[in-house]
Amino acid sequence: YAEDGYRLWQRYDLVKDAKKLKEYQGRVQQVVIEGSSPTLTVAKQELQQGLQGLLGKNIGNSNMLKQANSLLVGTPQNSPAIAALNLNQQLGSVGKEGYLILTTTVNRKKATVIAANSDVGALYGVFHFLRLIQTHQPVDQLNISNAPKTQHRILNHWDNLDRTVERGYAGFSLWDWHKLPDYIDDRYLEYARANASIGINGTVLTNVNANALILTKPYLEKVKALADAFRPYGLKVYLTARFSAPIEIGGLKTADPLDAQVQAWWKTKAEEIYTYIPDFGGFLVKANSEGQPGPQNYKRTHADGANMLADAVAPKGGIVMWRAFVYDNEVPEDRIKQAYNEFKHLDGQFRKNVMVQVKNGPLDFQPREPFHPLFGAMPQTPLMMEFQLTQEYLGQATNLVYQAPLYKEVLDADTHAKGAGSTVAKVVDGTLHNYQLTGMAGVTNIGNDRNWTGHMFGQSNWYTFGRLAWDHTLTSEAIADEWLRMTFNNEEKFVSPVKEMMLQSRETLVNYMTPLGLHHIMGWSHHYGPGPWVDKKHRADWTAVYYHRASAEGIGFDRTASGSNAIAQYFPPVAQKFGNLATCPEEFLLWFHRVSWDYKVKSGRNLWDELCHRYYAGAEGVKQMQQTWNAQEANVDPERFRHVKTFLSIQEKEARWWRDACVLYFQSFSKRPIPAGLPKTD
Ligand code: GCU
Repeated sequence: YAEDGYRLWQRYDLVKDAKKLKEYQGRVQQVVIEGSSPTLTVAKQELQQGLQGLLGKNIGNSNMLKQANSLLVGTPQNSPAIAALNLNQQLGSVGKEGYLILTTTVNRKKATVIAANSDVGALYGVFHFLRLIQTHQPVDQLNISNAPKTQHRILNHWDNLDRTVERGYAGFSLWDWHKLPDYIDDRYLEYARANASIGINGTVLTNVNANALILTKPYLEKVKALADAFRPYGLKVYLTARFSAPIEIGGLKTADPLDAQVQAWWKTKAEEIYTYIPDFGGFLVKANSEGQPGPQNYKRTHADGANMLADAVAPKGGIVMWRAFVYDNEVPEDRIKQAYNEFKHLDGQFRKNVMVQVKNGPLDFQPREPFHPLFGAMPQTPLMMEFQLTQEYLGQATNLVYQAPLYKEVLDADTHAKGAGSTVAKVVDGTLHNYQLTGMAGVTNIGNDRNWTGHMFGQSNWYTFGRLAWDHTLTSEAIADEWLRMTFNNEEKFVSPVKEMMLQSRETLVNYMTPLGLHHIMGWSHHYGPGPWVDKKHRADWTAVYYHRASAEGIGFDRTASGSNAIAQYFPPVAQKFGNLATCPEEFLLWFHRVSWDYKVKSGRNLWDELCHRYYAGAEGVKQMQQTWNAQEANVDPERFRHVKTFLSIQEKEARWWRDACVLYFQSFSKRPIPAGLPKTD
């Protein structure tokens, strides 16, 4: 059939390398899964389908270890054979969701064992084992012990009940509310299966700009149907809670979180939800941001609001993810300071089952932002990372941007909260402040397009999110390598140049959109394409000019002590580094500083020349991506080859559009010529 990307990275095509194929066939002669829970049934099906495809033969399932080279999967509770291996000590270190994959002997016969403490742990181990074969790794001497570094690895769908998707560029919502609860589209199962393969264990079904109707009975019945479909894959369902729901669907006069009636309403509502979905995960909330209702409407704090909801779900083990993305255009301060100002002083006031969910940077999912200053600043409040997979500000679905380097840059950033080495990753995985709750959220790029994410390479960002939420120490390179091998093929001549292209893609995009720390100069509201100019229809301080502040003298936003002083929100070593022109990393130059057009940058060029240089290098970088891809025609199926090629030509056009728009616009201030000798071929 046509290669339309539907199969994601879960392609189990026959191993082409004859030697490897023989090795794998020799290693796996029989699958033994004792137990028949829904999750183990899924694991069985996955192995059957995977091994049949990869090894080209039907490997039987058996309940008995009859022969050598068996693959034994399960937990000590459901498998006497695994219990007999006495793995308790090793299993003790992998927790609820981790697993072991061991080459060992069982009944004096050679065997591979995938053992875990829970069925879902075993399922994760199965996916790991299949991945080893998909990526042509050896499987004859395995000694793997693997456990997730964060507990809650959650997709955030910004899906509306009418199936439009806020900032979604891959079609409409997957959730067909009209046909639910009775019709379970196969796609729901494929979705859950894909998530399980990368360790994602939760999904928030609805938009953060929430509609209270989702909490009414007819919708809860539909949500239950989805939760039932997802459960075998270890995927829990969460919902967004509209803060004013008690008024809108509850008939109350107020949504004040300290009002007893309001509290009782949420308690009853939570109890009702749990009658439908006994393992309901909890609520995600956007409150008092961009016009959304919230506790501040009643002069209460974010903690008051979060705690009320937390108390409602606590009896059943639910959690509340309270977002720190607060933006109110009436607040006159530098917008990037608002979250810290509103949340930091509330540290210690949240219930134990609340996480504050913080975007990676203090503004809004820009191509590059410094890490959010809240990381490290709330030692008593678990902070959850929020990344955006959908490319709202990154060229949307037609631009190829592999985002692992963006996520890693933030995770590896040092907050200095407890001295050097206090990375954002250590805040998020709980090790720095000993958080008892940990999590990472990814705002999805998934829709009902056949290939799920609009751009084939958007799949790599979904994949990356799962892998990094599981283990943030994985490198961008290793993740790209895996993804390419699983999604396309294992040929070095394909993997190595295309991986290089992926690894460069984010820097290329930064160069043609927002080099040197520029930010939020995209088109008004839709955020597509360049828009650095004043938009006469809107207030000047809402548009791009507020952020870049270009004038005849220079460009950039002074966020040092002489300006908005946003740097003071960072710990002193970081504040000093960012605040000092000599030590501020050049990629954040215009984020933190306002400099003259003649300011000398590290390359020896003046700022104006450097800015032009970056824009031109960015546009040129897309041309190089095209060359890399075009050289792969023989190594990729025609459908996906054409798809990526066509999108790259759109991207190339857009990169030039960005370059020309920004250079010409900024030139109207700098009044300097475009320097000679720029990387330019058109
Ligand atoms: C951005 C985005 C909105 C979204 C908001 C949020 O501002 O443009 O569409 O609702 O982020 O994260 O809540």
